[in-house]
Amino acid sequence: MEETQNKKTIFSGIQPSGIPTLGNYLGALRGWGELQNEYNCIYSVVDMHAITVKQDPAQLRRRTLELTALLLACGVDPEKSLLFIQSHVPAHAQLAWILNCNTQFGVLSRMTQFKDKSATHADNVNAGLFTYPILMASDILLYQADAVPVGADQKQHLELARDIAQRFNGAYGDTFTVPEPIIPKVGARVMSLQEPTKKMSKSDENINAFISVLDRPDDIMRKFKRAVTDSDAVVAYKEGKDGIINLMSIYNSATGKSFEQIEAEFKGRGYGDFKTAVGEAVVEVLKPVQAKYDDFMKNKDYLSSIYSESAKKAIAISNRTLYKVYKKVGFVKREF
Ligand code: TYM
Repeated sequence: MEETQNKKTIFSGIQPSGIPTLGNYLGALRGWGELQNEYNCIYSVVDMHAITVKQDPAQLRRRTLELTALLLACGVDPEKSLLFIQSHVPAHAQLAWILNCNTQFGVLSRMTQFKDKSATHADNVNAGLFTYPILMASDILLYQADAVPVGADQKQHLELARDIAQRFNGAYGDTFTVPEPIIPKVGARVMSLQEPTKKMSKSDENINAFISVLDRPDDIMRKFKRAVTDSDAVVAYKEGKDGIINLMSIYNSATGKSFEQIEAEFKGRGYGDFKTAVGEAVVEVLKPVQAKYDDFMKNKDYLSSIYSESAKKAIAISNRTLYKVYKKVGFVKREF
């Protein structure tokens, strides 16, 4: 990464807990490539976050590498940005401990993702699931990130990271940059195709509920055809039509057509035509990503050189912040 003095810094991460969905792509990944010219970008595959829910070790390892290749396919350019695996950079866990000791239990128990995940994984409500947002704050604050591109579901975690930074700065003196969220105007909240009041998630047990960015065209078309709608048969952006609004938002995000244009295009036509059009638009959006992904996956040595070189640089940057924090909280300087 060319670290340029006058450019601001971006940090963002994604969990290797499954192949990214269309939601991840439209809500976050598509923007990651675009931000690289304006900012110094630091991106991470956050495997340490992923183990807050049970993972099969071999599968986690494979998914971490696949996700790294996929991020390159989505346009992350290693000449411009860092792209590393979170567990390769020890400072994330080290800073998280200190921030754990500076964050109140009550604040963490208000996090909606914790409440949701402890309900869906009731057999494994571990401490990591609870302190997840602190590890996320550490990711961001270690790099003194000015801004963090995320989908709408991460807004609360980002507010917590800002709060942690401000409180720490207040207690120990200026230490962290307070990061701003970057949430896209369209695509920030793609919903499940089967339960359109719930966000589209890569860990959903129902595979018809989400489009994976690596789904083949016939699977994409089939999933859109089965998408839950309503019995009105009118393509309109109206309250109570969650399924149609979700499909309209996806179509809007994939084609750039406004909601008025979409309503006009499908006036007097059935949902069948509309679903086909949405499916075809999504196939077109994902086609170039899929082609590039196959190329990157064929070249494992290249992949390893990218995440290894990036991690070395990330270690140097993150240690600068970590040692500053160690000093502030009163740890004795290590002399060896
Ligand atoms: P994760 O892995 O769940 O998702 C990665 C990114 O995709 C966005 N996203 C969505 N956007 C629109 N519609 C959806 N249905 C949808 N689902 C997911 C997420 O908002 C996210 O931007 N905690 C983070 C990972 C993380 C992180 C960080 C992010 C760890 N450390 C530091 C930013 C900065 C997460 O679970 O994302």
